[in-house]
Amino acid sequence: MVQYYIGATPDIKIYYTNNERGFYMAEDILNRFKEDQLEAKEIDTGKKLRVGIIGTGWIAEAHVLSYKKMPDVEIVAGADLIPGKAEAFFERYGVPDALCFESHTEMLNSVELDAVSVCTYNSTHAECTIDALNKGVHVMLEKPMCVTLDEAVEIMRAEKKSGKVLSIGFQPRFDPNMKKIKEIVESGVLGKIYYIQTGGGRRRGIPTPYGTSFIEKDKGAIGALGDIGCYSLDMVLNAIGYPKPLTVSGYTSDFFGKRPDYYKNHPEYAEVFGVDDFAAAFVRLEGDIILDFRIAWAMNIDTPGDTIILGTEGGLRIPSTECWNGSVGGAMKIYHDVAGSQVETEIPIIESNIDLFDAKLRSFLDAIKEDGPSPVPSGQIIYNQAIIDGIAKSAAAGREIEIEIPEI
Ligand SMILES: NC(=O)c1ccc[n+]([C@@H]2O[C@H](COP(=O)([O-])OP(=O)(O)OC[C@H]3O[C@@H](n4cnc5c(N)ncnc54)[C@H](O)[C@@H]3O)[C@@H](O)[C@H]2O)c1
Repeated sequence: MVQYYIGATPDIKIYYTNNERGFYMAEDILNRFKEDQLEAKEIDTGKKLRVGIIGTGWIAEAHVLSYKKMPDVEIVAGADLIPGKAEAFFERYGVPDALCFESHTEMLNSVELDAVSVCTYNSTHAECTIDALNKGVHVMLEKPMCVTLDEAVEIMRAEKKSGKVLSIGFQPRFDPNMKKIKEIVESGVLGKIYYIQTGGGRRRGIPTPYGTSFIEKDKGAIGALGDIGCYSLDMVLNAIGYPKPLTVSGYTSDFFGKRPDYYKNHPEYAEVFGVDDFAAAFVRLEGDIILDFRIAWAMNIDTPGDTIILGTEGGLRIPSTECWNGSVGGAMKIYHDVAGSQVETEIPIIESNIDLFDAKLRSFLDAIKEDGPSPVPSGQIIYNQAIIDGIAKSAAAGREIEIEIPEI
């Protein structure tokens, strides 16, 4: 199909179909736009923020490596339940002076801290976050926010009482392609949004490369639903302004995780598998919007489909990725009408060298120094958590349920 270029921003080229001419904005103008966007922020290193890390497992590595790059951060302590794990971790990442503890409460009671990263498995997110906030410490909390809606409410109450910054670790938010989805929706080009299909999945991708903390009920607590489902939900809910979820009809299953032959070298993992490896749901959102959701750590298909956002004036297709981790899988497309013709506008992938982890931690540190607001606020993510909780509850009850979020 031949397309016609009709306008541009630095990273979007808009085309008409069925017209043979095209022209591009002069390179130097595009470059000037880029320079404006890349303007660096100066970091005041006068006072170093004293940071601790709770849970020194897999994801803590990304946190420590990013914090080490921040000139206004001193990593002073860490805690892990497993004896010797925090010591070995800080030794490995070149922070040998960090004080190490076997419990987060001991660390919070013994060390003066400005902020902590909560990098524990899902089941201890709530207690570690609440204890830190109650101690007057700012919190960067890894995704998903927690396990249940009740826990999310308690976290928000502690946050409100403390007046400290709480940011939830959704680094895909800092991907310019994700930001573009929100900009497209906010531009009005899609009109009124009424239906969203989202989710993602892996043909085989139960996360056990570093052990079983994701799949054990008392550690991971929720499976694909919480682990990667939260990213799919954030991608679309953030784009449309996080409307309140009202009802949910959910389904979860565990057909792959419980099969010993799934794990080539560790058939015993099937014994400890206690979470979901697939979830699907039909969710009603405030504003008469339907959310059709599916997520899989493992399934007998390559993808459960692209994300689509349907509006009265246009539809947006966001290609899925093979190994769903919350990123845009290819050029997006807007399907709309122009002067009576059905046209497609391609939104090319925005190449960037932004380190998403650095951006996520930097935004948290800046919020602390600037007295808020939180870059990824609990006030939004509680709706993400309410849907996850609603899917689990509806699946257990075998029927649609209403989502009720108490006053915080
Ligand atoms: N943002 C991302 O890209 C990303 C990627 C992977 C994991 N995660 C999230 O990070 C979290 C941790 O995942 P992981 O893969 O690092 O798990 P992990 O099991 O490797 O590490 C978690 C560590 O926390 C420790 N721990 C648990 N409760 C504790 C407590 N109360 N006090 C001190 N230590 C405690 C455990 O002993 C363990 O060493 C999960 O919630 C996961 O969803 C995020």
